[in-house]
Amino acid sequence: MSVYVASLKESDIDRIIEIETTSFSMDVRESKELYLKRISLFREGNLGFYKDQTLLGFFCSELWLYKERYEADRFTLNGDFETYHNKNGKELYISSFAVDRKYRNLIKGKVAFDLAVKTLLNKFNLESIILLVGQNWVAAHSIYNQWGFKEIYKIEGFFSNPNADGETAIIMRAKLPQFG
Ligand SMILES: CC(C)(COP(=O)(O)OP(=O)(O)OC[C@H]1O[C@@H](n2cnc3c(N)ncnc32)[C@H](O)[C@@H]1OP(=O)(O)O)[C@@H](O)C(=O)NCCC(=O)NCCS
Repeated sequence: MSVYVASLKESDIDRIIEIETTSFSMDVRESKELYLKRISLFREGNLGFYKDQTLLGFFCSELWLYKERYEADRFTLNGDFETYHNKNGKELYISSFAVDRKYRNLIKGKVAFDLAVKTLLNKFNLESIILLVGQNWVAAHSIYNQWGFKEIYKIEGFFSNPNADGETAIIMRAKLPQFG
């Protein structure tokens, strides 16, 4: 069976944390509890990329009630899912996205991103997508630029480990229907 996308399951949690650990530097890793909450409260928006039973990567999201500009604490790592996720929200916030480097021969990040976003565009009545990206996360930038995401503002000093991530976080947004 080829790679497919499906909702994450609670039983994936150890693999999720393994991928989180190998994909993100220590200061930007999020907790097991938060991933479990995301899965239980918004299963349709928290997707995994699978080959057979193996989880290759994940794409986590929330629905937010649109604001032109959010306060910086919205984007705090290990942030409070329940406060901001709203099933009537038309802005998709991508809270986490990674593909295990050892499986990128099976699915490239850009193909995974396409699959996940298109799955969610089919499910929800979205008007825009927002995300936070580290200034040094080159592959992620390339994917988001190709999708038409534009920088809307920066959060200086967001990361505490500037060697790995730079110190600046960039908030990017793409407005529909530019996705076509
Ligand atoms: C982000 C991530 C999913 C992308 O997956 P990937 O398989 O590495 O990315 P792809 O191979 O699809 O590359 C996408 C583009 O970036 C380019 N790219 C990848 N790594 C690059 C690098 N180090 N330098 C320059 N360009 C790079 C690729 O050439 C490709 O460009 P193209 O579309 O013009 O061919 C993966 O790198 C990852 O999990 N990273 C760690 C977590 C992370 O940063 N998540 C993003 C959160 S915002």
